[in-house]
Parts: sequence; structure tokens; C-alpha cells
Amino acid sequence: MEFSHALNRKEFGSEENLGNVLNDAESMSLLTDWVKNEKLVFHMKQVGHLMKAYAIFKGYDAETQHMWYLSGLLHDADWDQWPDHHCRKIIEELEARKIDPRIIKAIASHGPRYFGVDPTTEMDKMLYAFDELSGFVHAYSIMRPQGYEEMEVKGVKKRLKDKAFAAQVSREDIADASERAGISVDELIEFVVKNQLRK
Ligand SMILES: [Fe+2]
Ligand SMILES: [Fe+2]
Repeated sequence: MEFSHALNRKEFGSEENLGNVLNDAESMSLLTDWVKNEKLVFHMKQVGHLMKAYAIFKGYDAETQHMWYLSGLLHDADWDQWPDHHCRKIIEELEARKIDPRIIKAIASHGPRYFGVDPTTEMDKMLYAFDELSGFVHAYSIMRPQGYEEMEVKGVKKRLKDKAFAAQVSREDIADASERAGISVDELIEFVVKNQLRK
């Protein structure tokens, strides 16, 4: 197993900062400053939206929902300008801003094969799961004349089997994320199709 962007760390953020978050204006201004690629901004908004939707689905309180949302919204914030330092740069920024360590840890573990950090909490695991699937379902919506309308799980699964379609999306990571989360790929797809931010 290769860790192309290995973080070589196990601790992220500080317990002292539990509960510290960026508000909506602060998180959006970080994205505006750092990310010029609109598609990437939209990807992060989609993942943030799914994370929040899942926290709502689980009945978590508003603070927890916001924490889940932020981990999704910021997970690729450094990819546009510092792809070689993804996701080290955003982690260091959030640490400097004394942000809740749980958010930083979730971001650090959103690609275990790349960063060498295992997703351990439910939030970590769902970020990993939604990241690839959100992009995949979005790619599928773009190739369908009717977009997201009447999209079905079986249609998405059919595309997953077609290795040439959205080839950059790792099927291996999707299977791994599903296994780690203990939620079937079918169920994950169903949730994404139902809750994905469409525009
Ligand atoms: Fe990423
Ligand atoms: Fe991502």
C-alpha cells in the first residue's frame, strides 16, 4: 500500500479546541480565498451537504450537524492551490485557527490509502464514504439527459461496473468505505441520490 500524500501523524488538532468551529461566513471566505475552481467548490458543498443531511438523519443536534457539514465543506480546500500538499495544508490551517480536533481528524482520514490515516469515528467514515460517491453520482447526473430526475440506485450501480465511466473514481475506495462504515454500497448510493445538492 502506498501513501502518496502520507501525513505521517496520528494526532490532529487539540482537545482544548473541542467545540471551536468556523461559522458559515468564515468557512465560505476560506473557500473563496483558497479555491478558484468552481467545480471543486461545488464538490465540497455537495459533500458538506450530504454530511449535514446524514447528521440530521441520525438525529444529531445542530452543533454536531454543523461539525459534520464543515468537515465535508473543507475536506479538499487545499487541492486547488496545493495539490502536492493535500490535505496537509488545510489541516495545518485549521490547527492554526484552533478548530475542533474532530473536524481536523475527519479531513485527515478522508483518503486512508493516500494519507495513511484510518477513519475511526462515524463522522470520519461517512466523509470517506460520501466523498467518492458524491462525485460519482454527480458525474452520472451530468451524462443523463434528465439529470438527477428519477435517478435509481440500479442505474448508478450499472455505471460503477463500467470501469471506463468516471474512471478517476476509485471503485476500490467505494467498496472499502462501505465496509468500514458498515453500510452497503446500495444504501450509501440511495442516500446520496436522495440528498445530493443538485446545483
Ligand atoms: Fe481529497
Ligand atoms: Fe473530495
